[in-house]
Amino acid sequence: MDFPTRHLQQPLPYDPSYEVPEDGEADTIAGLTEAMHGIADTVDKDTGHAHRGVHAKSHGILRGALRVLDNLPPDYAQGLFGHPGGTWPVVMRLSTTPGDLLDDKVSTPRGMAIKVIGVPGERLPDGAGDVTQDFVMVNGPVFLAPNARQFLGSVKLLAATTDKAPGLKKALSTALRGVEQVVEAVGGESATLKGLGGHPETHPLGETFFTAAPILYGRYMAKLSLAPVSPELAALKDRPVDLAHKPNGLRAAVVDFMTEHAAEWELRVQLCTDLASMPIEDAAVEWQAPWVAVARIRAEAQAGWTHGLSVLVDDGMQFNPWHCVAAHRPIGSIMRVRRAVYAASARFRAERNGAPLAEPRNLDHWREH
Ligand code: HEM
Repeated sequence: MDFPTRHLQQPLPYDPSYEVPEDGEADTIAGLTEAMHGIADTVDKDTGHAHRGVHAKSHGILRGALRVLDNLPPDYAQGLFGHPGGTWPVVMRLSTTPGDLLDDKVSTPRGMAIKVIGVPGERLPDGAGDVTQDFVMVNGPVFLAPNARQFLGSVKLLAATTDKAPGLKKALSTALRGVEQVVEAVGGESATLKGLGGHPETHPLGETFFTAAPILYGRYMAKLSLAPVSPELAALKDRPVDLAHKPNGLRAAVVDFMTEHAAEWELRVQLCTDLASMPIEDAAVEWQAPWVAVARIRAEAQAGWTHGLSVLVDDGMQFNPWHCVAAHRPIGSIMRVRRAVYAASARFRAERNGAPLAEPRNLDHWREH
């Protein structure tokens, strides 16, 4: 299919014809749901507690506020960001990718899930009555597979290693980090190696996060990113963390920082201007478009992670890009399949743990301890 190409600086308005479902998408969804269930079920049987099928381990649970910047250009003042100065509470959950709770020495990519609470705007039919907008991100600008079907292939591999000899995973991780450093030294970066445990052992709060896959942005299509901007936070970029004999060293690093400092991030948007070079059906392609700041998120100094917060957020909440206003509906293959897979994963843990999951309407129940 030929897609229209516009002048590079002009965002392309969304048209439903740009979304092209993959052949067998329903089978892919069933396969991914089953694989995630397999991982979560194995971990539940091992630990006596149901966790997320991926991103099971949280390293930071924060409360903050998102404030939309004033005077955004009209193309960027869309959806939630069409409310200059609009300010809403947010919950932030920092995680790493595996579905099992590994020693942090097995160093893997990091996730950041953001839930904005109390937002106005038309909802999708299945979210009628909710007031949340989630942005679910990882610390790389692209997803490791172009589409859902290919992702299913990698997930099957991952599911097969769940619970298999954590000691082996640790050894593998150390070896892979060495290989990753060599790959990066020769100008590359390998998502596969990082995913298996070759991620650099750096401070998770120094990361910049990305949605990698696109969402609607009012009339347009966008990818979003969250970047540290307050000086102390920005200084954590690439800062090594000592994880030797500290199975929960990442969490400890977040707690150490957050108990002493406030943290501020910029939420940035990249608008699609050309579907050929910025596809929405291939999440493995990095879009080449300017990042424009549209909001700030600020978290005051706080506990950073406690058992009580873990019960409230790890067990009591679910983050899903489909918790959204209609103006920010997710788009493209990867995003479409996430809708049912995330819902099934959340249902599984709610049932197993006997902890009902309802979208919050406020943070009145927020207690650090
Ligand atoms: C087809 C692609 C994907 C599948 C099947 C998938 C699957 C899942 C599942 C099952 C969960 C756990 C949900 C729950 O129990 O609440 C999850 C969580 C998560 N996923 Fe994905 N995912 C996909 C793509 C992505 C992408 C593109 C990103 C980010 C760029 C991402 C980032 C995350 C993060 C950060 C979490 C943890 C959310 C939290 O803190 O609750 N995933 N994913």
